[in-house]
Amino acid sequence: MKRSLLNYLACPACGGQINLATISAEEGIEILSGELQCASCAKSFPIVRGVPRFAELPEVEEEKRATADSFGWSWQQFSHDDERYEQQFLDWIAPVRPEFVAGKIVLEGGCGKGRHTQRVSGWGAKDIVAVDLSAAVEVAFAATQGVENAHVVQADIYHLPLQRVFDYAFSVGVLHHLPNPREGFKSLVSRVKPGGHASAWVYGAENNEWIVRFVNPVRTITSRMGRRLLYHLAKIPAALMYSTTKIVYRPLNRGRRGAKLARHLFYNDYLNYISQFNWRDQHLIVFDHLVAPTAFYISREEFEEWWREIRATGVVIDWHNQNSWRGFGKLPED
Ligand SMILES: C[S@@+](CC[C@H](N)C(=O)[O-])C[C@H]1O[C@@H](n2cnc3c(N)ncnc32)[C@H](O)[C@@H]1O
Ligand SMILES: [Zn+2]
Repeated sequence: MKRSLLNYLACPACGGQINLATISAEEGIEILSGELQCASCAKSFPIVRGVPRFAELPEVEEEKRATADSFGWSWQQFSHDDERYEQQFLDWIAPVRPEFVAGKIVLEGGCGKGRHTQRVSGWGAKDIVAVDLSAAVEVAFAATQGVENAHVVQADIYHLPLQRVFDYAFSVGVLHHLPNPREGFKSLVSRVKPGGHASAWVYGAENNEWIVRFVNPVRTITSRMGRRLLYHLAKIPAALMYSTTKIVYRPLNRGRRGAKLARHLFYNDYLNYISQFNWRDQHLIVFDHLVAPTAFYISREEFEEWWREIRATGVVIDWHNQNSWRGFGKLPED
């Protein structure tokens, strides 16, 4: 944790100022272990392996804990980076471009292994504060250690230990895994200052009826399985997806005549998009779908309501691969 993170913190219990109480180990600009304390209610929060911890997983409600547990494990296995992540991230937050985040104070809700944290930091954000509830923060911290403008915090998106000072908040692939996605979204944007902006990407209800019908029941079993076993089992559907996307979807979609035909293929937009990814990422995608205990599929109508509820203006809501929604908007000035 860098000292400059203190500028953004606030006690999740009472909103009071957070001070650095003790430092036990430092390395360069990072405080590796120590303690933070609230100046108002005196509650203290440990800094462990470079990450301030505002949520103790065993104390988090079961539904959230199980999700965080699964993703924490997942990101520790799939901790690799890939150059394709940058374009994928831009596709998820469109119409936001790298220039938009330059100089801004940015909040990321549910950072996983920190692949997007690194990009936003590299695009010249003044600071990015990346929050995740799970042990994925260990990977995100390792990915951003010593990077002046990148901060990783372990906390629950519903109880953010942050002041309302952010110019821009985004959340990619997280809200639909929360027990109440809309409340998670509102909690995230509650830390954006008046007139700031927000982006969110969620699974769509439209075109995903087959997942709800066939994959959800499987997920109720697989999310309770031993992780190591599921990791290997997921290789079977992943191998099927990998070979089909590489042998059928990718070549067909590249040719002019083939592309016409490809439009009739099952789930073409998504599977064609996925076909650019290597084996490791396709395995990750399948594993993630099977390991997550909670996944909501959100209709455009409901997603629009979220943005109306926060009184956002200039809202842009768009299909992504015809199976998910991405939204961007400006918060009111008052
Ligand atoms: C599918 S991953 C997406 C991670 C990252 N946004 C990405 O796209 O690489 C969902 C992430 O949300 C985190 N998460 C789940 N529930 C959370 C909560 N209540 N508060 C904060 N993060 C949470 C998980 O730990 C996980 O890392
Ligand atoms: Zn307090």
